[in-house]
Amino acid sequence: MSSDEETEEYLFKIVIIGDSAVGKSNLLSRYARNEFNMHSKATIGVEFQTQSMEIDGKEVKAQIWDTAGQERFRAVTSAYYRGAVGALIVYDITRRTTFDSVGRWLDELNTHSDTTVAKMLVGNKYDLDDIRAVSIEEGKNVAEKHGLFFMETSAKDSTNVKKAFEIIIHEIY
Ligand code: GTP
Ligand code: MG
Repeated sequence: MSSDEETEEYLFKIVIIGDSAVGKSNLLSRYARNEFNMHSKATIGVEFQTQSMEIDGKEVKAQIWDTAGQERFRAVTSAYYRGAVGALIVYDITRRTTFDSVGRWLDELNTHSDTTVAKMLVGNKYDLDDIRAVSIEEGKNVAEKHGLFFMETSAKDSTNVKKAFEIIIHEIY
């Protein structure tokens, strides 16, 4: 085996989408750097982080892309989705409007990517369970209807963050 083959690695592009302030950037920073920012600013344009892991003895790299939920700060849509093999569609369990937007985010994703993209619906801010506006059941139902994985997470206290990314990455792999 040549040294080239020994260092062979896999690079997967995963995109995070959803309305502004649902916690996309904090999910990414929690996963990639174990950081959370209570006062993070709205994302402008696109940011990404690369995270490595080992699956079946192979190095797997996930390149995770994060863009603005706000239309005026968004990057070129087609470029953002190009080559993506995984997607997290995020809403905030305390704000119903963000849940109502899920269908539109899915439409956009489906328009700009192919059907084999692994998708997970993520209800974030689980730490605010006592002021939730969307039930777990509703989340599950929408996920089932569209054939998505489903998970509730908290970027603040880390609940299920690693799990959500790892399920998607394993599904792609
Ligand atoms: P845009 O970049 O504008 O699209 O927003 P975003 O989806 O990236 O949201 P961001 O990660 O910047 O978080 C928005 C606000 O929600 C910030 O004040 C975060 O601290 C807060 N936040 C994010 N995740 C959580 C969470 O799990 N729990 C709580 N309580 N707050 C969170
Ligand atoms: Mg952001």
